[in-house]
Amino acid sequence: MSTYLVFGATGNVGRRVVERLTWAGAAVRATSRTPESAGLPAGVEVIASGLTAPGALDGVEAAFLMWPFHSAEPARPLIDALARATRRVVFMTGGGALPGVAPQDQPNPVARWHATVERLIERSGLEWTVLSPSTFMANTLWWSGQIRAGDTVRGAYGSLVMTPIHEDDIAAVAVRALTGPGHAGRRYTLTGPDRLTQAEQVRVIGEAIGRPLRWRELTREEERERLSADPAFPDDFADDLLDGYATMAAAPPPALTSSVRDLTGAPATPLSVWAAEHAAGFGGPVRAEGDGAGRVRRRRTAG
Ligand SMILES: NC(=O)c1ccc[n+]([C@@H]2O[C@H](COP(=O)([O-])OP(=O)(O)OC[C@H]3O[C@@H](n4cnc5c(N)ncnc54)[C@H](OP(=O)(O)O)[C@@H]3O)[C@@H](O)[C@H]2O)c1
Repeated sequence: MSTYLVFGATGNVGRRVVERLTWAGAAVRATSRTPESAGLPAGVEVIASGLTAPGALDGVEAAFLMWPFHSAEPARPLIDALARATRRVVFMTGGGALPGVAPQDQPNPVARWHATVERLIERSGLEWTVLSPSTFMANTLWWSGQIRAGDTVRGAYGSLVMTPIHEDDIAAVAVRALTGPGHAGRRYTLTGPDRLTQAEQVRVIGEAIGRPLRWRELTREEERERLSADPAFPDDFADDLLDGYATMAAAPPPALTSSVRDLTGAPATPLSVWAAEHAAGFGGPVRAEGDGAGRVRRRRTAG
């Protein structure tokens, strides 16, 4: 039986990729820095992240790769090892990496690292597919503390238009590309079904938890201070995030794509559905199938 290797398997998307491969009956090997607490489905072989672990790449048909590192340095040996051991890689890029733009000309460091990894993969001899998703719906959980504490979400760039995507829709596409033919050399731009400002996203979450919520606009500097004081928010990420928002705000509003529907046969999931699944994470009602931490077993359709 083919084995599929999933990097970042405890992350927003990787966990869904593992689940979907498992549901499809595939053999799954997954990486985690803390295998003992990864909480992945029974039968998944969890290895400590390093791919130098003996046997880590044996028998791997295809790998799902994402890039959590703050440098592209570790990519070369990793991709060389993959190219020797396996046939296909599906890479989830990020950071606003622009297609067809050289790494050094990308708009920010995160985009540069991701574009570097894309380039290494494209030149590796592997069959590759790049997934370029829009903003994850899970990012709205950054507001969960404020929503638990009151009815107002404070932040900057409230009128910024996004096309938020459900992480499980990304996973559904990833599994198609990992397991099926016809995706080699393709770069898919994935979005959710709707264009929503940040303020509109807050309203949708309010509807899901049965409590009207409103947005209060902060200046960039106020937001930077708020994020820096938030223990749940990574210290070094506030400027990257706000720079990213500033770039997005200066660009034309993002376009929606039909890639999720085209590739999985099911429409992209609206934020209202994601928010209902994760209501408990915002202090809303716990749904019967939820685990209380915002994770639920979703439909097993697409992918
Ligand atoms: N958030 C967005 O809106 C968005 C949009 C487009 C693209 N992206 C891209 O998506 C990727 C993140 O995906 P995700 O949200 O699914 O992942 P995530 O939830 O941030 O999880 C990352 C996983 O990587 C593993 N990991 C291994 N080494 C790590 C390290 N040095 N630092 C941090 N984590 C490490 C961790 O697993 P263990 O702890 O088990 O080792 C963790 O579960 C990034 O490349 C980002 O640029 C994000």
